[in-house]
Amino acid sequence: MSAVRGEFSSRFGFIMAAAGSAVGLGNIWGFPTQTASNGGAAFLVAYLVLAFFLAYPALMAELMIGRHGQANAVVSLTKVSNKPWQKHFAFIVGFGGILCAGFILSFYAIVAGWMLSATAQPIATLAGADAASLWLSEQSLTRNIIFTLVFIVLTIAIISRGVENGIEKWSKRLMPALLGILFLLIAYVMTQEGAMEGLKAYLLPDFSSIFDTQLIVSALGQAFFSLSLGTSVMIIYGSYISKKENLVSLGAYVTLIDVFIAFVAGLLIIPAMYVAQAQGVEIFSASGKLLSEDTLVFQVLPALFDGMGSVGLFVGFAFFALMSIAALTSSISMLEAPVSYTVERFAMKRIQATWLIGVLIAVVSITIVCNLGTLFGLVITLTTKVAQPLLGLMCCIFVGWIWYRNSLLQAIQEGNPEVHNTLFWKVWPWYTKFVCPIVIGAVFVHSILS
Ligand code: PFF
Repeated sequence: MSAVRGEFSSRFGFIMAAAGSAVGLGNIWGFPTQTASNGGAAFLVAYLVLAFFLAYPALMAELMIGRHGQANAVVSLTKVSNKPWQKHFAFIVGFGGILCAGFILSFYAIVAGWMLSATAQPIATLAGADAASLWLSEQSLTRNIIFTLVFIVLTIAIISRGVENGIEKWSKRLMPALLGILFLLIAYVMTQEGAMEGLKAYLLPDFSSIFDTQLIVSALGQAFFSLSLGTSVMIIYGSYISKKENLVSLGAYVTLIDVFIAFVAGLLIIPAMYVAQAQGVEIFSASGKLLSEDTLVFQVLPALFDGMGSVGLFVGFAFFALMSIAALTSSISMLEAPVSYTVERFAMKRIQATWLIGVLIAVVSITIVCNLGTLFGLVITLTTKVAQPLLGLMCCIFVGWIWYRNSLLQAIQEGNPEVHNTLFWKVWPWYTKFVCPIVIGAVFVHSILS
């Protein structure tokens, strides 16, 4: 059965795919800019604590449900349900996660399209196509539509090839490329004037803000978004892991890689902002606040690259290629969630299901592009601030309250027969039963009220 459904062929393949889903614009764009505007290292500390103590247990809950169910999110959640109401609840949570993944992809593809056009722009400049270069660098409806569609087609092309030949193969190629570009860019930025000041702002904490509730809400939201929780994506990726694998350590690797890349991206973006400042580019507004995230990425950094002369063309290209790659390894996981459901529920061929869902998502994306002012922020808020924490919390409730403890133990013992003697088994079930739902719920209520 699993061979028919597709399965990751190796531990490394799974780690690259799941880390690829986790590592995205959230790490390379969201995390550094949020850190910079939320007290530097204080945000980093809060993020690390929340990622390991709340997001990792929630990630384990989703991976466990999927690996046990060996099916799409709806079926996997139904398999751990016992009573009829729980099966209805399973449908709501599983299908809700699938919808959430689809809507996240619909706005993510727009931002990724901006990254693609910014990657193409230095190439146009180098080729002497000045008009094209100008068109690529300026916001316009046509440009946004074209590049959003290009990005969605790239995502479809990978997903239509399946788990091993699509997701795994491309994650194994793209993730090392991403790391290589990231380190090269850091090495370059560190040689520039102003970088050390940025490094200090990033790494020296201003602990006065560490208990600021807003900071904690942002850090938890960032951790959930970054680990792709509450979208059924990790349930699906869990369902492609062999029962011979030790899930506890696989989940830990994915969390570590995700946090590590966010941290390393901070070593690039924050010093780069201060290098730009040293070259006379404004990075703070008149009130002393850091400029907004999109201004930093699409105005401050390009201004920095321009100031570097011709080498700036290569640096700018590498930077936006890095962003585009990060976005692509995440978007494939978002598309896989609805596609796997459609293939299994309606017995449809993968290629047809991929194009069908891909076109539907493209229609939503284009609708958002055409109503950027009203819909863009709304869809982001509804998916990342409302649906993701709520659905992530529900998955913890499934593991903590609905799934019978013995059956849960048996499931986690597969690939890890001694798990019942470990600290993980002593702490995690209790943790997902009480701590995760209460803390995630409290943070969610606070973020909605404020
Ligand atoms: N984790 C991705 C990032 O940090 O950019 C975003 C993401 C991927 C969110 C997959 C949700 C998802 F289902």
